[in-house]
Amino acid sequence: MNHRVGIGLTGLAMAMALLVPVVAEEASLLRKAKGKDLKRENPLAQDPEAAAGGKRLYERYCAKCHGGNAKAAERGPALDRGEVREAPAGALYWVIRNGGGKMPSWGELPEPQRWQIITYLKSQR
Ligand code: HEC
Repeated sequence: MNHRVGIGLTGLAMAMALLVPVVAEEASLLRKAKGKDLKRENPLAQDPEAAAGGKRLYERYCAKCHGGNAKAAERGPALDRGEVREAPAGALYWVIRNGGGKMPSWGELPEPQRWQIITYLKSQR
């Protein structure tokens, strides 16, 4: 009887150990965005050239982790999801500027290039 309870608890502890990192990874970086960046509007949202330029920048800097056409790769989540498309531009800006976890900060990237990438990510269907 005691033996069984022991196995049950061990099993539970193991399940928790497996679950916790998965849950942590699910908590989107986008939801951590805060402060004045979050309220920023994309000055290039309506610029027809920005999405094309942003795609080129994306493929150069981001695709190695997030995959070609933002369709996910081994090192990062897909970015062609509705959650990304519908996120406030300012939340995307915050994530790109600050990074977090295994996502590097892209604060060195000139601001207009960051907005172009955001225009591209939001233009995806
Ligand atoms: C070295 C690999 C790597 C590179 C390069 C990279 N990212 Fe990331 N990115 C990640 C990882 C890993 C996450 C998930 C981080 C987390 O949730 O803890 C992430 C998360 C994100 C998120 C949030 C996604 C979500 O669902 O919350 C966005 C947006 C994002 N990255 C955009 C970009 C953009 C734009 C670029 C290029 C300028 C880029 N990333 C380059 C690894 C990378």
